[in-house]
Amino acid sequence: MGGDCKSPGSAFEGSNPSRNWMNDPNGLVFYKNKYHLFFQYNPLGDQWGNMSWGHATSSDLINWQELPVAISYTQTHGIFSGSAVVDYFNTTGFGTLENPAMVAIFTDHQHDGQNQSQSLAYSTDEGITWQIYQGNPVLDLGMTDFRDPKVVWNTVNEAWVMSVVKPHEHKVCFYQSRDLKQWQLLSEFSNKNGTDGVWECPDLFPLAVDGDQRKIKWVLFVSVNPGGVTGGSGTHFFIGDWNGNEFIADDLTTRWLDYGRDNYAGVTFADAPDNRKIYLGWMNNWDYAKDIPANPARGAMTIPRELSLSMIDGKVTLLQNPVKEILGSAIGDETFTITPKDAKSGIRYSNANGHLVEIGFDPKTKEIYLDRSGAWYEIDSTSIHRAPFDPHEKSFEIRVISDTGSIELFAAGGQVAITDLLIPSTAAYRVTPF
Ligand code: FRU
Repeated sequence: MGGDCKSPGSAFEGSNPSRNWMNDPNGLVFYKNKYHLFFQYNPLGDQWGNMSWGHATSSDLINWQELPVAISYTQTHGIFSGSAVVDYFNTTGFGTLENPAMVAIFTDHQHDGQNQSQSLAYSTDEGITWQIYQGNPVLDLGMTDFRDPKVVWNTVNEAWVMSVVKPHEHKVCFYQSRDLKQWQLLSEFSNKNGTDGVWECPDLFPLAVDGDQRKIKWVLFVSVNPGGVTGGSGTHFFIGDWNGNEFIADDLTTRWLDYGRDNYAGVTFADAPDNRKIYLGWMNNWDYAKDIPANPARGAMTIPRELSLSMIDGKVTLLQNPVKEILGSAIGDETFTITPKDAKSGIRYSNANGHLVEIGFDPKTKEIYLDRSGAWYEIDSTSIHRAPFDPHEKSFEIRVISDTGSIELFAAGGQVAITDLLIPSTAAYRVTPF
């Protein structure tokens, strides 16, 4: 896949389609040594519309091969966000035990805006060609907004469990099924005092705290738009327990996955090897996605990130870090040590015309910040994004994944992430500490 946001041949070559519009990652699943990334895609243009599932695969999460459109819109329906699983036990009967089907569970969005329901399609050739299930929809509440099913094989339930949202009601609904076709409501999770905007793209998954399999906690991702921490689109999450019926949050604190403006609708891969929990997000914001100067493709994904939980200062804390496969790749990847002083300190990325991006720590406000004002033009948006951070050590590290079109910051072992698109003047960077 070539093409990129103003930077052909850049490190991010491959994380976006070669042409046209892309938004949410969909159907993330690992099968036969390949990571499959499906994505919201307009096969006909570089603006949102004709929503279909595009498709790309990778064996290392870094280099991606773009494949033909997997599931196409029809005259009546768009194929909205959803997930994919490999049906190893052939619970659907779509494949065989020898050659299990890959099953996509997506939202069928009626073009006239009157209905959203959940539907299935399946593939027995590793996601290349797809059959639409004749019994669709499999879950229809007759609602105009009911979307983004994330289905996984849940080891507590020993059944398929779907997380799906009623966006305007700020509810994640959990359903269970034995065959992906008949779904039974288990419970609904909501946060009455929560964010504005609509809830989208949920994901519920377990992680072992500090790798200890006896200490499993469940994480629930919910993307919100608008109402994100830096305005517009953002993803928040809850940590809690899953008892086979309900998700019980430890508390209703709003925890943000990313403090930048450009990481939305992220979800995790199913069946990643070695129990790894890997996610990526759409590197954009609905506030201005349609205006990002890009040609011939508009839209990119974040670097894939590995998730873990760790007990830090007595709190179960979600950590996210670029996947290890990034090491040795051509992607811009630098780590800096910050030793907080009385005044702000950090690093500046600049070119001959001056500063582009400043990354630093402000001891007065106890914030890590990313200031993209030198690399942001034309589009109305905030440019300084801050994440609260109270360092307990003398120093901490900030890792920066950089491209001409984006910057992704990971601080203190992945406790803080800030992801921002850039609209740069030139690609050449100089790095200076201050
Ligand atoms: C999130 C979202 C989803 C929807 C899709 C449509 O960005 O709005 O809720 O399924 O995009 O493209």
